[in-house]
Amino acid sequence: MKDLLRTSDLSRDDIELLLQTAAEFAENPLRSRTALANQSVAIYMTKPSTRTRLASETAVAHLGGTPIFIRGDELQLGRGETIADTAKIISGYCSALIIRTYAQADVDELGANASIPVINALTDDDHPTQLLADWLTIRENFGTDIAGRKFVYLGDGNNMSHSWLIMGAIMGAHVVAATPEGAWAPDATVVETAKKIAAHTGGKVEVLHDPEVAAKDASVLYTDVWMSMGDSESEREAKVLALSPFAVNENLIALTNKESIFMHCLPAHRGEEVAASVIDGARSVIWREAYHRRTTIQALLFHLTKGDLKGSKH
Ligand code: CP
Ligand code: NVA
Repeated sequence: MKDLLRTSDLSRDDIELLLQTAAEFAENPLRSRTALANQSVAIYMTKPSTRTRLASETAVAHLGGTPIFIRGDELQLGRGETIADTAKIISGYCSALIIRTYAQADVDELGANASIPVINALTDDDHPTQLLADWLTIRENFGTDIAGRKFVYLGDGNNMSHSWLIMGAIMGAHVVAATPEGAWAPDATVVETAKKIAAHTGGKVEVLHDPEVAAKDASVLYTDVWMSMGDSESEREAKVLALSPFAVNENLIALTNKESIFMHCLPAHRGEEVAASVIDGARSVIWREAYHRRTTIQALLFHLTKGDLKGSKH
């Protein structure tokens, strides 16, 4: 496996290795401080980022490398240079490329033309690095025995909902996306892929449209912003109306099991997709989850640049 272009690129074994290494980096961030010595990693983002950018830059630094952050408007790519040419140029200077942008097809094209690992740091379709942090946090709370547990995402059927379903399916978990029907439901092809994966892993994938049915006895309630980067402001009113019943509040938490946790990839909008009392309350694990963005990206860079990951044919 050269690249991490989408969550479904990962095999269960790859994830186990990454989570194990990330847990070690959480204990000692500097345990592999020469892994990227004398090497550089390009981080190119055409969308804003707080966590992923800082996690990536600090991960590279902790591995002894030099991060090169490039804003979307700073490459000749914006002036008509092709993705293929850009990929070849960056491959000549850097050991990996971390990319956040809109179209998944652009990330795929970079991966196909770069000789170095390309890591998807969020597209309109997928957010694979987030899910590594999420699953390390889930592990820390529930261990490896997830039988009988239900992992529920509530809200927009967006990139996060896709990654949630695919990752849960690979892990053999019972995963749910509870979203409105129609325009803000997860992409049908992604749901189909997740179900196919779950058929092999013993997982269970459900798309529900009733937030209370979804929350009942859940071990995790997860949510994300209602307006994603790149969403059209013209749809805000209708979208907020459709998503309102999926807001994570105390009533939904009361339906979950006794040891349930609340998760959010952040940034959060208190009073919209989640009540302040929930995200700032005792069940919330958001700070640990955000912390693991760095430990897991560090693990990913460590193993991907060494060629340790096998990938999957999902
Ligand atoms: N969760 C996440 O990706 O956050 P940023 O957009 O701040 O990177
Ligand atoms: N769905 C959100 C996730 C942010 C981390 C977005 O794409 O903006």
